[in-house]
Amino acid sequence: MIAGVNVSFPIITVDGPSGAGKGTLCHALARRYGFHLLDSGAIYRIGALASQTIGIDLDDEEAVASLCERLEVDFVPTENGVSVMLNGQDVSQLLRTENVGMAASKIAAYPKVREALVNCQRNFAKSPGLVADGRDMGTTIFPAANAKIFLTASAEDRARRRVDQLLSIGCPASFEQILADIKARDYNDCARTISPLQPADDALVIDSSQMTIDGVCQQVNDYLKSLSLV
Ligand code: DC
Repeated sequence: MIAGVNVSFPIITVDGPSGAGKGTLCHALARRYGFHLLDSGAIYRIGALASQTIGIDLDDEEAVASLCERLEVDFVPTENGVSVMLNGQDVSQLLRTENVGMAASKIAAYPKVREALVNCQRNFAKSPGLVADGRDMGTTIFPAANAKIFLTASAEDRARRRVDQLLSIGCPASFEQILADIKARDYNDCARTISPLQPADDALVIDSSQMTIDGVCQQVNDYLKSLSLV
């Protein structure tokens, strides 16, 4: 189902706060079942980066929303994952910085920006299936999805994972700073009035704090099998 309209392939939504492991889970599911992948956080990040690049004031909701409506975004599969292309330039690395993450969180609170990006996100739903990663996939973008997962973890565990990830690619990282950023982002995402971060009523909630990613994948695969989706 796409927003209440019947489609002939499964849509699986994975929502939750930043750093809970949604990206890893979604990539694993998409690879395993050959489904398309929507990284909706990357779309908000692209909106923020594109605005900053051309000098749009991030306080100007109207101007940011108007740019978001015209974004030309391309997700290109590569050997190591996916490259995100903006106007023909590979911006995958730039998108992952904390600065762009905070800017994305800011523009994501604007109702006009969220509205401008709805169709762009729904267009990712294609046969043979979709795994959608975000904050409001199961509540707003695909409310009639076949399976909904809400993946969370304590802020401390998420900060620790992010520090390890940054160190593994040679970037020095402060645990205290990352924890403060994560808490600020959680606050923005949960407190906004439009599509706040919250589990859909019919979502399976998984707290991954004490779990390995393999354990999470196993639980989700069992859940999808119990729904006869895979
Ligand atoms: O998942 P991420 O960290 O790449 O997301 C970046 C920001 O975008 C995050 O702070 C919240 C926002 N976001 C959102 O509001 N709704 C989504 N569906 C995805 C992301």
